[in-house]
Amino acid sequence: MKTPVRIGTPLSSSATKVMLLGSGELGKEVIISLQRLGVEVIAVDRYPNAPGHQVAHRSHVINMTDGAALEALIALEKPDLVVPEIEAIATETLVAMEASGKITVIPTARAVWLTMNREGIRRLAGETLGLATSPYRFANNLDELKTACGAIGFPCVIKPVMSSSGKGQSKIDSEADIDAAWAHAAAGGRVDAGRVIVEGFIDFDYEITLLTVRALEADGSIKTHFCEPIGHVQVQGDYVESWQPHPMHPEALVRARDIAKKVTDNLGGLGVFGVELFVKNDMVWFSEVSPRPHDTGMVTMASQQQSEFELHAKAILGLPVNVALHTPAASAVIYGKHDAKGIAFEGVAEALRDPGIDIRLFGKPESFARRRMGVILAVASDVETARVRAKQAAAKVKPVMPV
Ligand SMILES: Nc1ncnc2c1ncn2[C@@H]1O[C@H](COP(=O)(O)OP(=O)(O)OP(=O)(O)O)[C@@H](O)[C@H]1O
Ligand SMILES: [Mg+2]
Repeated sequence: MKTPVRIGTPLSSSATKVMLLGSGELGKEVIISLQRLGVEVIAVDRYPNAPGHQVAHRSHVINMTDGAALEALIALEKPDLVVPEIEAIATETLVAMEASGKITVIPTARAVWLTMNREGIRRLAGETLGLATSPYRFANNLDELKTACGAIGFPCVIKPVMSSSGKGQSKIDSEADIDAAWAHAAAGGRVDAGRVIVEGFIDFDYEITLLTVRALEADGSIKTHFCEPIGHVQVQGDYVESWQPHPMHPEALVRARDIAKKVTDNLGGLGVFGVELFVKNDMVWFSEVSPRPHDTGMVTMASQQQSEFELHAKAILGLPVNVALHTPAASAVIYGKHDAKGIAFEGVAEALRDPGIDIRLFGKPESFARRRMGVILAVASDVETARVRAKQAAAKVKPVMPV
């Protein structure tokens, strides 16, 4: 995108067209932000009636790991921008299409390709950029895993190189747990790559997501903006609550921003990045980065003047952004609790009786016990109060079976 930016009229020959690859709850909010800016949005997912499908101009259902299917759909729709929302995409197809000048990928095809595999981003951060990370080794089979665990020591964390939301991940305390961790990783990996990373366990005080935004300046240069740190709690590798701002030792904040700047400078392009960091006193370790809005950043729908979704929509279009905090706030996840299609939610009115509470229900057609189906947002004068209110409100929302 060049400055000054022109935005056309949706569904006309002047339309500015954006294609979302992945249309879950995060994509849905990016789409709503794009819709408000008069952008024509095409939402793609692997199943019909995904959350983002429900708010886009058009929707498509394809297997996004099928490179030929992806290329054919992009050729059909001819979007100005291709915006990956998930990791499970044929990224080598995006890299090739971008290299031949056919598409612009957000933030860059290389960033999307590198971050879909833990090995790519970890080697970039730890070896190319020399950033502090947990110690790590890779393994392709059980024997290599035993050697790797021996080298790293215990406790350690074992993860498939291609997985997200904690799938296939185990923290182990001794050699006796290695076989089970290998089996768990093999079952939880996204593609059966059979490759895992072993990471030394970092005994951090807390972990944050540092939302980092690369956006155009008036002179056409790119400026890096940092949102206030977001604190979060993960259970089995999946986020259950988050809050913003998270107070930090001043030295740790400087280090966190320095790490985020180095990683995002290297990945390049425009848009929001979720830089995941572990912090102990004034020490900071890089964990991983999403080249897109982050699930823990849903709290910004309440806490910031512009949510991470609005920031992403604006930044990728070449528009200016404002990362200012509006108020302390917290988010709490609402899980499905049932394995069923077409569930309903009771208790929403009771939850919203507190005027500081808001809710997003994602509209996912099928619920699983541990599937994220909605989120509560709570504002307060401090984050501790916001966290308590968010959890109280989330507990009032009851997913029920369809009658
Ligand atoms: N080396 C480590 N030391 C300590 N805790 C860790 C380590 N690696 C992962 N964790 C914990 O597990 C969580 C999930 O790990 P990670 O972010 O690598 O997995 P993920 O599957 O990519 O999760 P998501 O997709 O939700 O970000 C981290 O946020 C952290 O709480
Ligand atoms: Mg993570």
